[in-house]
Amino acid sequence: MHVISLAGSPRLPSRSSVLLHLGEQWLQQRDVKVTSYSLHDFAAEDLLFANFASPQVKALAADLAGADGLLMATPVYKAAYSGALKTLLDLLPERALEHKVVLPLATGGSIAHMLAVDYALKPVLAALKAQEVLHGVFADDSQVDMKAQPQPQLAPALAERLEEALANFHLALSRRASVSTFDSHLLRHIA
Ligand SMILES: Cc1cc2nc3c(=O)[nH]c(=O)nc-3n(C[C@H](O)[C@H](O)[C@H](O)COP(=O)(O)O)c2cc1C
Repeated sequence: MHVISLAGSPRLPSRSSVLLHLGEQWLQQRDVKVTSYSLHDFAAEDLLFANFASPQVKALAADLAGADGLLMATPVYKAAYSGALKTLLDLLPERALEHKVVLPLATGGSIAHMLAVDYALKPVLAALKAQEVLHGVFADDSQVDMKAQPQPQLAPALAERLEEALANFHLALSRRASVSTFDSHLLRHIA
């Protein structure tokens, strides 16, 4: 199974990216191949001026086309996801998430905006034809201790929710993989 991970914070260090990296590690430990992208991999000018010919955007689109799922993370900015992430999503082909399972992760300063992923990001993922968008994980800033050593730490309740969401993601990816194997067997049978 192959997953693309996408860090959608324009800032570093980034709390939402901490969640993302823990998710990547969790998946890699279960033999999922993870290809990591971050907003910082893209030229700011390409994003700002909608350069559809950007080689980095084309590489992301090509990797997505061959992947089973997308694990993405964003900070909440002004009650939605980050605008910088939108500039990247706008450059992807219309069906970029067709047949993909998506797990969104988000961090915000206040739980007042814990539904931002549901009302702001999910419609965009649907427009990109995501097959299945799973129930995401929202963390407020107090649940991610950026000063912990040797690495940032999650509050236990958050770590538990993240693990549960990742287990569901893994299950959805496996389901998807077994359906495509079944489909190719069937096609061979019919041919
Ligand atoms: C420009 C800006 C706007 C923000 N707007 C919100 C907001 O509307 N609601 C909220 O809960 N947090 C808001 N925050 C706080 C961030 O969502 C929060 O600190 C988040 O964890 C940052 O994630 P990051 O470290 O991955 O960038 C905002 C932060 C910035 C810099």
